[in-house]
Parts: sequence; structure tokens; C-alpha cells
Amino acid sequence: MPHVYIQDIAEHVEKEVTLKGWLYNKTDKGKLRFLLIRDGTGVIQTVVFQKNVSPEVFQATDTLAQESSLVVTGTIRKDERALGGFEMDVRNLEVIQVADSYPISPKEHGTSFLMDNRHLWLRSARQHSILRIRSEIIKACRDFLDDRGFTLVDTPIITPAACEGTTTLFGLDYFEEKAYLTQSGQLYNEAACMSVGKTYCFGPTFRAEKSKTRRHLMEFWMIEPEVAFADLDDIMDLAQEHLCSIVQRVLTERTEELKVLERDTTLLETIQSPFPRISYHEAFDILEKEGTQTPRGSDFGGTDETIISSQFDRPVIVHRFPTAIKAFYMQPDGENPELALCMDILAPEGYGEIIGGSQRIHDYDLLSERIEEHHLPREAFQWYLDLRKYGSVPHSGFGMGVERVVAWICGIDHVRETIAFPRMLYRMYP
Ligand code: 4AD
Ligand code: MG
Repeated sequence: MPHVYIQDIAEHVEKEVTLKGWLYNKTDKGKLRFLLIRDGTGVIQTVVFQKNVSPEVFQATDTLAQESSLVVTGTIRKDERALGGFEMDVRNLEVIQVADSYPISPKEHGTSFLMDNRHLWLRSARQHSILRIRSEIIKACRDFLDDRGFTLVDTPIITPAACEGTTTLFGLDYFEEKAYLTQSGQLYNEAACMSVGKTYCFGPTFRAEKSKTRRHLMEFWMIEPEVAFADLDDIMDLAQEHLCSIVQRVLTERTEELKVLERDTTLLETIQSPFPRISYHEAFDILEKEGTQTPRGSDFGGTDETIISSQFDRPVIVHRFPTAIKAFYMQPDGENPELALCMDILAPEGYGEIIGGSQRIHDYDLLSERIEEHHLPREAFQWYLDLRKYGSVPHSGFGMGVERVVAWICGIDHVRETIAFPRMLYRMYP
């Protein structure tokens, strides 16, 4: 019998097929057994009628606990009343394994219990939907950039120096040398874009963040485009188009999953370019009116981001932060060198920063000064400085944190559910 996936079941009505999957739920009614089976692509109700199967098969259905693995063969029937619109009349059933008593039931479990059982929790409808949406988002990112002539260049995970400040580095011994897990592929992207013009990297990045918030992970995935000859405005345009295309893709391709998550998509549906753009100081005017405790001149706190973003119905771009609180590589604004040519994009509905980007310093002497000022090890940055000696040009890029975008689009309030196996401040099991 041909093995088919549940998602393709409509093509097999009135035909006999084989399904392979796991038992999701079971109800007994006299001579009938209703087995709800999932196979990763969908869920279908299968009906085992005593008179249609051998006595052994009928008996076997009694031993089945949730998550038992099965191969079932039978005829597909169209049935409006059934979940998904189809049912299978089972002729034969083979049990691969009878599962132990499954620890996760439909009742409410505490977060800590669920996180301890993350390896199993992934099978639930909600987690399954998040995994699929995350996968779609990553594909949308890559398609968007690939279609615009970007070249994917993979950047290293093991690095000799910091990109985003020395306080959040994960150190490791690299034989006799000190090395660090990468915080961002940006510095290498800058080298790559001088070769291919438009580049991006996509990979895991690591930050030893001592903050226990719903937005921070120690290991997160970032998509980072970098463009030679681009300035801050160019990169803001690119970032907003990028976000619009991701949202559109998920809305059209992952409707079912959004339904499972009970995501109210009203605001997502209205998202389009252009996004409002406000300066750091304009953002602070809003914050001061709302009575923030954060002093002007410092970085926004989580609550500040929520306040700013809740003023807008679509993502908002905040640009030109004070140079003093930003990374060493950012180009100062020609009109006011106290400000950096940088931007953050804050997602609506209180999700906060999802993108950070900037124009990079392309002048050798200025960059060299900044490396001194930030007490960065010169030897480790020699190659980076070198880029400013051989046909240096203005260039810009940004980084988008995948988990934060998944949280926003799925409408879930903690990033721990946006990646299969989150690394958090006090948790790296399983
Ligand atoms: O603003 P960040 O630190 O920018 C950079 O790393 C630049 N080098 C990127 C670039 O220009 N190529 O981080 C970028 C994004 C943030 O906006 C956020 O979405 C995400 O990465 N991010 C985190 N996500 C989850 N957990 C954390 N600890 C994160 N830190 C940053
Ligand atoms: Mg940032």
C-alpha cells in the first residue's frame, strides 16, 4: 500500500492507503475505536470497526497509549463532520511501539515541567505550529535576500574578538589561545560585502546576557545582511521591505498554524511600508511624556520599548542613538557626531526590538581611534582595520533576531517557545 502523508489525503479519497504516525487521542465505543493519528503534516481520525479487522488488531487497539507509533492501512472517506474533512476506515494496523504513559496531557502543566519535557512538548499542536512558522520565516528571509541578488556567506562561530561589547562574551579555550563564541557575523559580513557587494549570513549567535527577560536568549539565530555603498536610509528601506515580506509570507502560507495559535492577525494584515521613522530624541519625547524613569542619553529599557512601539500600528524605526551608548563601529552622523547613524526597529503589540542596524565607519583613522577608546585588542581587529585601507566605501547592514520575530508573528509572550531547544539564563536542559 502506498505510504501517504495526511496533508495529501484529499488526493486519495475512496482509495486504500497507508499512514505512518503517532496516536494523538483515542475513544472507545463498543465495537468501534476512534484513533486520532498525527504524522507531522496533519491529524486524521481513523475508525477501527471490529468486523473490518482481525481479532488481534482489534485487541491491539486496547493497549495503545497516547504517542504509540503506528502504521495504519485503510480507505479514505470524505466526511464533512470529521476533523480536517476526511476519515479513514481501518483495515489493518501495525503497532511499532506501545508508548509509556505520556507525561504531557491536555490539562494545564506548569512552564517548568513543560520546559523539562521540551523534547516531548514539541509534539503538541501549539509547539508544532510555532516550529512550522519559524521554518517559514527563515525561508522567507532567505528567499527575500536571494531574490535581490544577495550572496550567502557563512561567518565563523569561533572568533578572536567581540563585536557587540565585551560584557556578554562566552569564552572558550582555543588550544593555547583565548576565543569567543560569535555575538554577530557582522564584522565578517563587512569583509564579504567588499567581495560580493550584497551579502548576508544566517546562523546562531551567542550572548552571555545576565538578564532574565522574556526577550533574551543566550543562543539565538540572526539573519544579517550587509551592503557595500549603502547608507543608513538604504538599510532602513531594506529592513522594512524585508519585514513586510516575512509577515506576508506567514499570513499566506501558515494560516492553519496561526489559527492553532489563536493569533489575532488584524494588525499583522495591515503591515506595509513605509514604517514610521522617529529619531532617538523624538522617541524620548514620547517616553518623558509617559513618565519614564530612564534618563535621556541612555539606552531604552524593555518597558520603554513597549511604550514607544504601542504608539504605532506597525513596526517603528528609531534612528540616531547617542554614539556613547552604541557599538564602536557605527558611523557618526555628519550633522551631529554625538549621534550614530544607526537604527532599531521595534515591533508593534509590545514586542520591542527585533532589528538593530547601522552604517559602519569606513575611515581608517576614525575606526582606529574607536578601537582604542573602547579598549578593544588591536591585534584581533587588524584584519578589520585593513578593510579600510583597500578601496574602503560607506556600507551598512542590520541584524534581525529570528526568535523575537517568531514571538511577535506568533503572538507568544516569551521567546522560550520560539526555538526548539532554548538556551536560557538558568536552563540548558534538554
Ligand atoms: O542589536 P544587535 O545587538 O545588533 C547586532 O548584533 C549587529 N551586529 C547586527 C548587524 O548590524 N549585523 O542584535 C540584533 C538583533 C536584535 O535586534 C534582536 O532582535 C536580536 O538580534 N537579539 C537577541 N535575540 C534574542 N536574545 C538575545 N539575547 C538577543 N540579543 C539580540
Ligand atoms: Mg540592538
